[in-house]
Amino acid sequence: MRLLLFCVFLSCVPFCSSADRNDRPIIGVLAQDIRSPKPNQSSYIAASYVKFLESAGARVVPVMIDQTPEEYKRLFNSINGILYPGGAANITSSGYERSARIFYELAIEANKKGDYFPIWGTCLGFEQLAYLTSGKPILSRTNTTAVALHLDFTKEANSSKMFAEFPAELMQDLASEPLTENSHKWSVTTSTLNATEELRTFYKVLSTNTDGQVEFVSTMEAYDYPIYGTQWHPEKNAFEWTKPYIPHSPSAVRITFYMAQFFVNEARKNMHTFESEEEESKALIYNYSPVYTGRESSFEQKYFF
Ligand SMILES: *[C@@H]1O[C@H](CO)[C@@H](O)[C@H](O)[C@H]1NC(C)=O
Ligand SMILES: *[C@@H]1O[C@H](CO)[C@@H](O)[C@H](O)[C@H]1NC(C)=O
Ligand SMILES: *[C@@H]1O[C@H](CO)[C@@H](O)[C@H](O)[C@H]1NC(C)=O
Ligand SMILES: *[C@@H]1O[C@H](CO)[C@@H](O)[C@H](O)[C@H]1NC(C)=O
Ligand SMILES: *[C@@H]1O[C@H](CO)[C@@H](O)[C@H](O)[C@H]1NC(C)=O
Repeated sequence: MRLLLFCVFLSCVPFCSSADRNDRPIIGVLAQDIRSPKPNQSSYIAASYVKFLESAGARVVPVMIDQTPEEYKRLFNSINGILYPGGAANITSSGYERSARIFYELAIEANKKGDYFPIWGTCLGFEQLAYLTSGKPILSRTNTTAVALHLDFTKEANSSKMFAEFPAELMQDLASEPLTENSHKWSVTTSTLNATEELRTFYKVLSTNTDGQVEFVSTMEAYDYPIYGTQWHPEKNAFEWTKPYIPHSPSAVRITFYMAQFFVNEARKNMHTFESEEEESKALIYNYSPVYTGRESSFEQKYFF
């Protein structure tokens, strides 16, 4: 018996440095539909989201569209969190929406049972989360397709999970300098969120912004679930260069890293694992190579599937 316990302990050593922390987190990134698909290019992931997560110590698995619910469930039970990236897929009807919905429902169910599974939504992913939570159209047009903004923090920001470990001077920079890149023509306005009970009771608004006319929600986190969204793009500051309004100052790049670190730390609280090392290695994004697309796209590099 003692020998058995000793062996169990030893076999655990390389993987878990602490009983309740997973230091080998693997995070799924959702692929999305390409509008005019070509052979072998029906969906893609922008490489900046992969680098974002890798920079804070996670590995990435692409979550392909058009898989069966059983395949998604198996993958859900193998990974430690998921990121819904920005882009242009349809949030009410697309392969992106379908896989986002399945993972959202699995995450809600798992979290209710004490299986901590975090979700992050950036830009389109933020809008997708708001739509999944509310189940109704919640977007309004805003003039925010190409602009960097400072964040107007709400009084809730100081008590948030997301910003808890941000240094005070970085919070000040976020509140005063245009360090958050916006490239969206749709937004969830503050008044829509206020007027939509499903959203108001689910999400704590951490920051807002305006396009000069309309105030919209720019950062939110769920009250009772590890679900987070930014309408802006934390990953671009360090990893995208195609637009002149992407901020690259030292503070801007620190924001990329602190956001990534926050979310990867959330994933470290999840203990899902692949059933075998072979299954894990076959799933990792290392099996694919990004392509340089910066000359024709707003993303420097993309993975195509
Ligand atoms: C598509 O992918 C398959 C398998 O990876 C490869 O054999 C084929 O040449 C590819 N086709 C094109 C048009 O790139
Ligand atoms: C998304 O798809 C639905 C259903 O096909 C369609 O009615 C809607 O117009 C689409 N939305 C956008 C923004 O293209
Ligand atoms: C949209 O915002 C930009 C600044 O970000 C401004 O230059 C432009 O005039 C605005 N357009 C409209 C139609 O308000
Ligand atoms: C957050 O806390 C800092 C330091 O305690 C304070 O300076 C700042 O005004 C607070 N921000 C908000 C939005 O309450
Ligand atoms: C939203 O509701 C809160 C309190 O319920 C209020 O303080 C705030 O002004 C409202 N904002 C908008 C834009 O309606």
